[in-house]
Amino acid sequence: MQLTVVDHPLARARLSTMRDERTGNAAFRAALRDLTQMLVYEATRDLALAESTIQTPVTSTTGYRLAAPPLIVPVLRAGLGMADTAHGMLPESQMGFVGLARNEVTFSPEAYMASLPETLVDRDVFLLDPMLATGGSLVHCFGLLTSRGATSITVLCALAAPEGLRRLEESGVPLRVFTASIDEGLNENAYIVPGLGDAGDRQFGAV
Ligand code: PRP
Ligand code: URA
Repeated sequence: MQLTVVDHPLARARLSTMRDERTGNAAFRAALRDLTQMLVYEATRDLALAESTIQTPVTSTTGYRLAAPPLIVPVLRAGLGMADTAHGMLPESQMGFVGLARNEVTFSPEAYMASLPETLVDRDVFLLDPMLATGGSLVHCFGLLTSRGATSITVLCALAAPEGLRRLEESGVPLRVFTASIDEGLNENAYIVPGLGDAGDRQFGAV
């Protein structure tokens, strides 16, 4: 597993806004959008480019486009808040969706939807979820992706717990993980500490 902590003054500032319990839903969503830009920017640094000749108003020169834009997969609900920003930066990308809700007693993910291409052979996949806590939700997603042939999976999350990172490592799935912070750990409710609370509720309200 290749782990990158996107530690930048702007990332720390946005993350602090998200952590602050006084931050309302709208400001939380705005900070997550900004942070997503930073995560996507770093995660796309090595994407392959295709060259072509383009004409500027002055002369011809070499132009570039992404050779194979990654499939973007937000994990509902909380990953929805990262989806538009990631898609804005990768406008040629297609998007799939996975819907999971963590059982708050067992802490295991319960799946309620998956909308993914039939085959993911030779496709880069960017999984978006602001929170990596026990890692159960992402490992469930890995099963959906690898069973369709995916071999190139990148996880973008705002916060990660060491326990979740270990679980991802133990899954044995070749992986890149980009996060803005590795927090202290999980509490007895499997919430990230210091964390930011429930990322879905912080964006959309408790349902
Ligand atoms: C949150 C979060 C992750 C998951 C992380 O979603 O968005 O998907 O918990 O926890 P884990 O690493 O222990 O699996 P939740 O299940 O609360 O659903 P929501 O996005 O609808 O709020
Ligand atoms: N899901 C969240 O939204 N927050 C946590 O701290 C853990 C799981």
